[in-house]
Amino acid sequence: MAGRKLLVTNALPYVNGHLHLGHLVGYVQADIWVRFERMCGNEVGYFCGDDTHGTATMIRASQEGREPEALLEEMSVSHQRDFADFRVDFDHYGSTHSESNRELVYGVWAALRQAGRVAERDVTQLFDSEAGVFLADRFVKGGCPKCGAAEQYGDNCEVCGGVYEPHELVDPRSTLSGSTPELRTAPHYFVTLDEFHGFLDEWTQTPGRLQPEIAKQLERSFLSDRLRDWDVSRPAPYFGFEIPDAPGHFFYVWVDAPIGYIAATRDWCDRNGKDLADWWQNSEREIHHFIGKDIVYFHTLFWPAMLKTGGYELPERVHANGFLTVNGEKMSKRKGTYLLARTYLEHLSPDYLRYYYASKLGSGVTDLDLNLDEFIAKVNSDLVGKLVNLASRTARFMKGQNLCDPYPDDGGLFQRASAQGQEIAAAYEARDTNKVTRIAMGLADRANEYVEAGAPWALKKQKGKEEEVREICSVALNLFRQLTTYLQPILPELSVRANALLGQEGSSRFEDAQRPIEGAPVAKFEHLMQRIDPERVQAMLDGSVSED
Ligand code: MSP
Ligand code: ZN
Repeated sequence: MAGRKLLVTNALPYVNGHLHLGHLVGYVQADIWVRFERMCGNEVGYFCGDDTHGTATMIRASQEGREPEALLEEMSVSHQRDFADFRVDFDHYGSTHSESNRELVYGVWAALRQAGRVAERDVTQLFDSEAGVFLADRFVKGGCPKCGAAEQYGDNCEVCGGVYEPHELVDPRSTLSGSTPELRTAPHYFVTLDEFHGFLDEWTQTPGRLQPEIAKQLERSFLSDRLRDWDVSRPAPYFGFEIPDAPGHFFYVWVDAPIGYIAATRDWCDRNGKDLADWWQNSEREIHHFIGKDIVYFHTLFWPAMLKTGGYELPERVHANGFLTVNGEKMSKRKGTYLLARTYLEHLSPDYLRYYYASKLGSGVTDLDLNLDEFIAKVNSDLVGKLVNLASRTARFMKGQNLCDPYPDDGGLFQRASAQGQEIAAAYEARDTNKVTRIAMGLADRANEYVEAGAPWALKKQKGKEEEVREICSVALNLFRQLTTYLQPILPELSVRANALLGQEGSSRFEDAQRPIEGAPVAKFEHLMQRIDPERVQAMLDGSVSED
């Protein structure tokens, strides 16, 4: 299916923390999907950026004694460097704290006002007068008003599961200053979401829009009832965009965050002479959002309502990924399993993790575990033992020679593997990369059996067998290159290097897996991939331990 026009986004990471390996699940997944679509000849714009606003940014900057802008600058550089080093290749990396985003937010706001979807009423919140801020739910702790459990956050109780307002806590304390917060009342602005109920019922339940488990969950929870008004403003002080027709009030971070997708696209359009309307107001373009499962309702309730009112196209699909655990548990700083992207990169190659995640990910929302023993075993056995081995055992016998022309009789191996191209493509399209890697490793097994049986290293020593050696190696190298083409979205650099080995420049198109290369000169074999030394993994863990 070539010729599609796609717009792909990943959730915008919060500016107040470095990327960890949990974050990377969704970014690697989307990047693989984007690379696959491009290989098939589709036009794709791939956008992301930093999510900058909110109480947490304000507090962190003030604790560090600097302006939020300085924090933003530093984190944007750090995030972009991590993404680049993991080969997550956005067309543009923006920021929600940009003039382009401000304008777009004002536009959506004006549209909501004009459509009569904004209400105003008083809200009573806890205010920390020592720190001088209203306290978001996570910044207050106290006794659960339902069961009495101590030390619970302001939104819900981890002991009894009760949900409540922060000011209902018994003996609330600010986690910022430790002081007892006071109640303050201020006007807030709300989007009257229930007026979108019918639209959201239909939009979320359209087959193919959301993963079935997510559509069902929404139908049973939020959508089974009246939709509560969404509180979209915060009184000063707040780090964000001031509401133009309500001075002293700011847009809640989740208003301007997803609009940041449009702003990132717009910045890219401005730089590249493109038209934003072709991207966000073009019914022929498919918009795909990749997000983690924790932020589903922002993307499936509020966001479609904003887009619709603002006059933008709605997403074709929202893909949610499950959450990462490490060795079966939530990541923990104390146990050294809170693995930052940067720490990983100091010790290990990004290809290993891209492959491991790909092998774990399907089209569902289930959580996945980074089991470090399995990680080592899988990479060493699949990538080094099966895949790269095909080339490393045969390329050296081909130095200075050309691949056979025509391609020799291989008993139908190449042909059977090209016939599986459609199945592989369908799996990529459905984000079922677990299936992709399973098919690819099955093919690699067949190819290795062929090399084993032919034993070119033994033939090499016999007189008059030169042509036979050349045939076996031409087959093995072509099967290798066919597989690296299939796996190119996951392992983009390996594919380029495999191409170079067989005298081909650059990366492959998906259809290149359909035809063997004939006659091209074989380059000198350069090491393609190393086994993971378990000591490197241990070094990464040792580098990650900290007291919270
Ligand atoms: N800023 C919001 C998203 C705004 S989108 C308009 C946010 N940021 S985040 O930094 O907390 O998370 C970024 C992405 O990483 C989200 O998709 C989130 O779901 C995902 N993940 C964060 N921790 C994760 C794991 N442990 N495992 C898998 N995905 C994780 O949410
Ligand atoms: Zn409780």
